[in-house]
Amino acid sequence: MLDEARKLQSYVAGLRRQFHAHPELSWQELETSRLIQAELSALNIPFQVVCGTGVVGEIKGALPGPVFLLRADMDALSVTEETGLPFASEHKGKMHACGHDAHCAMLLLAARLLQARAAQLPGTVRLLFQPAEELGQGARKMVEAGVLDGVCGAFSLHVWSGLPSGKVFIPDGPAFASADLFTIRVRGKGGHGALPHEGVDAVVAGAAIVMQLQTLVSRELNAFNPTVVTVGSFKGGTQYNVLADTAVLEGTTRCFDRELRLQLPELLERIAKHTAESLRASAALDYRLGTPATINDPAAAARARQLAVALAGPEVLAAYRPLMVGEDMAYYLEQVPGAMGLLGVSGGKRTAYPHHHGKFDLDESALPFGAVLLAQNAMAGLQEK
Ligand code: NI
Repeated sequence: MLDEARKLQSYVAGLRRQFHAHPELSWQELETSRLIQAELSALNIPFQVVCGTGVVGEIKGALPGPVFLLRADMDALSVTEETGLPFASEHKGKMHACGHDAHCAMLLLAARLLQARAAQLPGTVRLLFQPAEELGQGARKMVEAGVLDGVCGAFSLHVWSGLPSGKVFIPDGPAFASADLFTIRVRGKGGHGALPHEGVDAVVAGAAIVMQLQTLVSRELNAFNPTVVTVGSFKGGTQYNVLADTAVLEGTTRCFDRELRLQLPELLERIAKHTAESLRASAALDYRLGTPATINDPAAAARARQLAVALAGPEVLAAYRPLMVGEDMAYYLEQVPGAMGLLGVSGGKRTAYPHHHGKFDLDESALPFGAVLLAQNAMAGLQEK
């Protein structure tokens, strides 16, 4: 299958470049959706359009059996492309800077490989092209639309420029962290910047909260339970000589542990409130749960690693760590056993920029291997049931 996929290098790269040149933001993936639909039609694979721009194709095997789900995400980012590539973004201010273009292309190549083998398939492979991953919303909507009905297992790959081309990382258990959001509103009392004793400075209280929040991870939580608390935005005050009466902090938390995740709002609120009070200000926390942690089923992850090793030898497995990045694949893996892995796509300096960077690019020679890994996980998953 790998030889066959490699002969289709220009097919998969061509698709990726078409997606790449026409990036669309979350929930706006209309052109992307149309291209996927056209490809599935050309492959004689029936599909449905779900949640506006999502596409769900089905390859029905000749033999009876359950449904295995392969998933790709479709959306791009508000990033201005700086690669100078001939197929660079034609949509100003938007870019496929996370590699979701490659995910769609790989899944279409996997579909092509599987469609040619439908006679041997004991069950159905459901091809999920999911919108709005970057907002952490698409997967949840797709689940609500019923895409997990009858599903026995799921698999997905995320390309990753932090790994050498063609290597994979598919851990047991935690693969991606939860990603939640918080806002802290600090209230003080405005006044003249020269007379701070007559007011309450919300900027100083906000700054103290930012610093005190750092003690959560360093002094309060177990070091064996990886957690991140980031305040990414701080807005307070209006002018250099006016005492700020409000400050607004916005941030995100990341962790793998479900219980800890649900404790974090209380911990943040305690620090924010008491720190503000100690400075005569007040603080209110607004905490919104985003994407849960993506937890791989150990058996599904082991199967995926075995398949990778059988294709490319033991050195295909990269020594790496789970990412504190959020991934809404989590919503599927909360309900069905499955795994998500990273596929290395860095072939050198030009393809080593971080994700979400304006110069992000990937080594397309890794894509046929990724497509085969997707296809083989589906086949093996169906055979095991
Ligand atoms: Ni991504």
